[in-house]
Amino acid sequence: MRISDRPIAAKLAELGAELSPGVSMTKKTSLGIGGTTDLLVLRKFETIPEIMRLLAADGIPHYFLGGGSNVLIGDGELSWVALHLPTSKPGMSIEGNIATVDAAADLGGMVTFCAKNDLGGMEGLIGVPGSVGGALRMNAGAYGTQIGPFVKEVQLYRAATGAIEILRGNDIRFDYRHTSFAPDDLMLRVKLELPSIPFKEILAGIKVCNEKRRSSQPLNQKSAGCIFKNPPGRSTGRMIDELNLKGHHVGDATVSDRHANFFVNAGSASCADMLALIDDVRERVHAAHGIELETEVIIWKN
Ligand code: EPU
Repeated sequence: MRISDRPIAAKLAELGAELSPGVSMTKKTSLGIGGTTDLLVLRKFETIPEIMRLLAADGIPHYFLGGGSNVLIGDGELSWVALHLPTSKPGMSIEGNIATVDAAADLGGMVTFCAKNDLGGMEGLIGVPGSVGGALRMNAGAYGTQIGPFVKEVQLYRAATGAIEILRGNDIRFDYRHTSFAPDDLMLRVKLELPSIPFKEILAGIKVCNEKRRSSQPLNQKSAGCIFKNPPGRSTGRMIDELNLKGHHVGDATVSDRHANFFVNAGSASCADMLALIDDVRERVHAAHGIELETEVIIWKN
């Protein structure tokens, strides 16, 4: 969707939003898949409510794009604009056991920053790609650690009220790869309460998690992590593997040889290819196990 030639563009610029016309989402997502649209970088937190009002008044649909590591975006000219927070020099600070971090910060960078300040507990999250905001929204987790339990408060733009608010951690539901945030809420900043652990100890934990991840996941290929959630008590990766589907593909959308719940873009896969592979694998698992898999990756079709 192109808004750079509309009257709204000048108003958005006055509000400190920076418009990049015609950005390919292949460059903004870890899957390297996605069509083209205008990208709006929201440089001032305080003008976000007004920007959202303007977009709504002009009937301009939008999605909030974080690190792009857990989304599958439609092909071609997209029918919505992508909103993004500035990623250069995101704020991170420590006071006692509380880390205050901008949502645009890189998740791994945040874990390392806290570790260097002797605050740990999040070692399992070290190799999870994406932004802190994306991790909050999805309650990212790995190796027995999820971000949710550490959240003391979140500053966010709340779609329901059209205002910037602060929610206490206790008032947010963090479930397995799911939270009580609305799809249109935009994470801005988080305060995490973390246990004091000596840096060396945290580092040892980080190394163990990195090693486990390297040995079981296709880290050097374009993916969005696990494509499906695990049903209660079951491993989706194992079920797909046992159906001998590693290497199975639609175009360049391919079931990873390393971990069967990772679907990789082995070349120039389209969103249509990836969706066809998702449907195909879902049907096969359903036929074999009677289980309807739910996608973990967030899908923004055109
Ligand atoms: N397995 C196979 N074949 C495969 C993949 C896995 O047999 O191709 C078996 C493994 O040997 C193991 C079991 O399945 O016995 C579980 O595999 P793994 O330990 O890799 O964990 P997972 O349940 O597949 C989950 C998360 C990952 C997270 C890891 C580590 C989900 C959907 N996935 O994977 O998160 O990194 O545990 O904690 O919850 C993600 O969210 O995108 C993600 C990758």
